[in-house]
Amino acid sequence: MIKGKQLFFLLCALSLFAACKKTEKVSVEEDNILNLPSTPYDYEQLTLPVYLTTNFLLGPGQNAAADNDNTPPDNIVTNNGATLGRVLFYDKSLSVNGTISCASCHKQDFGFSDDRVLSAGFNGGNTRRHSMSLINARWYDRGRFFWDERAESLEAQVLMPFQDPVEMGMTLDQVVSVVRSKSYYPGLFEKAFGTDEVTSDRISKALAQFVRSIVSVNSKYDEGRKQVNVPINNFPNFTVSENNGKDIFFKPIPAGGGGCIGCHSTEAFINPDNGTTNNGLDSISTTDLGVFESIKNPAFLGTFKVHTLKSIALTAPYMHDGRFASLEEVVEHYNSGIKNHPNLGPALKDPQGQPVRLNLTVQQKTDLVNFLKTLTDESIKNDVRFSDPFK
Ligand code: HEC
Ligand code: HEC
Repeated sequence: MIKGKQLFFLLCALSLFAACKKTEKVSVEEDNILNLPSTPYDYEQLTLPVYLTTNFLLGPGQNAAADNDNTPPDNIVTNNGATLGRVLFYDKSLSVNGTISCASCHKQDFGFSDDRVLSAGFNGGNTRRHSMSLINARWYDRGRFFWDERAESLEAQVLMPFQDPVEMGMTLDQVVSVVRSKSYYPGLFEKAFGTDEVTSDRISKALAQFVRSIVSVNSKYDEGRKQVNVPINNFPNFTVSENNGKDIFFKPIPAGGGGCIGCHSTEAFINPDNGTTNNGLDSISTTDLGVFESIKNPAFLGTFKVHTLKSIALTAPYMHDGRFASLEEVVEHYNSGIKNHPNLGPALKDPQGQPVRLNLTVQQKTDLVNFLKTLTDESIKNDVRFSDPFK
């Protein structure tokens, strides 16, 4: 039994303890703020299905996704490196007013893209273009990033949002000094790189490792693909409509298909080495000149990166300006809306040089949309390795 006097002392001791705790609050909180596993999650052991590692003759320019890995030899993904990258990716204190992290605009629930047409930066300002999904960034042989490919590598790209005046509003020196000031980083840097030294080069490497680890292999498409020898065969797990949509996606336009695989190529659906092109959104480029803004060659006017279609159903709205709200609108664009831009991709022109009209039936358009939905990889959406460690 606790008597009155004892209770009094107990309460005093407790309040003293509370007072002590208060002075330590910052570091105590920071140490506990992160929810990381004691053994790091596995980001290294990429077990890829054979159709991502072996060439299948789909047509000219087709090769395996894994042949197009842009991982540089000095930045192989490691479990500890990607773990550090994950923390940096979700850390809001790396924006000038502590409100924005990479994940604010690259949301796990939306295929690491943003459901907003334009994303909101630290001050509420809008980004110039629509955010991009980070899935399968690794299988892009050209290794260039952004809609206009202005970043020469993923390592270069991942430092740019910090310094963007709309996005995170920092200087690199500021980023490095905030990282140095946080009690949770030294241990993470030590595990990732051998010492706790914080440099912008290490921040870039860790973030790039995290992004490269986001690889999609578990969609309904993947499940079906494992059961057939070549992608053009019917998939046993697909509905009739999904298989018909797949036919349209893979078949060339002159053969009655949509020719989509010609540009969204390899089975990472990404076009790893052919470079940017134009898909006829506008007849002339006015406000956004695409690659031409950095390479002043008319051949690049209005051309943009062909981005992965994996988990495309999660990443609406679509295109570099987010102009289409749904996959139905995208399909209608390719079906009837292609404009004759001077740099329109040859695959989207008819023999007379005019924009193609696919003339799909209502059912065929539905089939194509249903096929695109099979590319959704729910496992990435729910994967704890890619989730917010501050929660
Ligand atoms: C305020 C929103 C915002 C924030 C914050 C942000 N991004 Fe982005 N991100 C975008 C937008 C918008 C684009 C496309 C911009 C363009 O092409 O001009 C993009 C493009 C990218 C790309 C290019 C993908 C590709 O396939 O070419 C990568 C990679 C990327 N961001 C990673 C990051 C990382 C890492 C961070 C944190 C350091 C980050 N982003 C922070 C909005 C944001
Ligand atoms: C000539 C090459 C080409 C062909 C053929 C092509 N696309 Fe595209 N696709 C692109 C380009 C380039 C973009 C990005 C355009 C932009 O934002 O300015 C794009 C964007 C998309 C997007 C939006 C991606 C995103 O992240 O917002 C979808 C969905 C899409 N295409 C589906 C298809 C389908 C379905 C077909 C077949 C009917 C097809 N594409 C045929 C080049 C092509």
